Amino acid sequence: MDLGFGGEVAEFYQRYRRGYPPAVVDALADAFALTPNDTVVDLGCGTGQLALPIAARVRAVVGVDPEPDMLVLARRTARAQQVDNVSWLLGADVDVPALGALLGGGTVGAVTIGQALHWMDHDTLLPRLGPLFRKGGGVAVVTNGTPLWLQDTAWSRALRGVLEQWRGVELTRTCGTDAASQRRYRDSLVAAGYDVDQTTVDHTGEMSLDELVGGVYSVLSVDTLPPPEQRSEFAARIRRALHPETRFREDIRVTMLVGRTR
Ligand SMILES: C[S@@+](CC[C@H](N)C(=O)[O-])C[C@H]1O[C@@H](n2cnc3c(N)ncnc32)[C@H](O)[C@@H]1O
Repeated sequence: MDLGFGGEVAEFYQRYRRGYPPAVVDALADAFALTPNDTVVDLGCGTGQLALPIAARVRAVVGVDPEPDMLVLARRTARAQQVDNVSWLLGADVDVPALGALLGGGTVGAVTIGQALHWMDHDTLLPRLGPLFRKGGGVAVVTNGTPLWLQDTAWSRALRGVLEQWRGVELTRTCGTDAASQRRYRDSLVAAGYDVDQTTVDHTGEMSLDELVGGVYSVLSVDTLPPPEQRSEFAARIRRALHPETRFREDIRVTMLVGRTR
């Protein structure tokens, strides 16, 4: 499965992708009454943005991702942070039945899906997760802010103009953060028999130009990443379009659709 998250994209993701503030982990722990006896599965774990902070709250986390390069960097980050209770597993949404066979039914406190459900077949996946959960456990569909090029700020609109011109296509990808996707996910959770709530955590962030460009690289696929020899021109175009701003402020809303088993 090659989704374009390998190689340099994984490196940019690990380096520049924003993580989740502690209030998000608190909200997830509260939602499923997680304890140090629990196991959590983080599906589409990337380089561990959600798996690593959750690991401090539970006995074990299984981070699952189909991209080996993401897992290598997740593992390296875990080691650097001295987190030793996360297992990194190559796999995808379609492997949930095998994961259930490994862990056993009724054993999992939560499955978290951070900024990744838009890559999965949610109508098939969500009912399949049900047998994994202990009583009161469930699934959290988490988004981590509006994409950099779709925010309601002058710099974001200017960035979108540069990216659309560079790529020659209109940028409409919301990565599951838009209201229609959220409605679809909620409907799918309800249809799969979960009790559903939504929680949000609002916070702000600020980036330098280098961080903004790195953030853009982290969400491009390997085949749309500007080649190394064009990167200084790419960054210069962004700098010119966003001039005179040099710091870029974001209002970030993390949404959690929480589906609890009955
Ligand atoms: C945008 S990243 C999210 C990473 C991290 N969870 C976060 O919150 O930042 C999406 C991740 O989903 C993974 N992914 C793509 N298709 C998937 C699938 N079918 N099943 C599981 N993970 C998938 C990708 O390899 C990538 O690491």
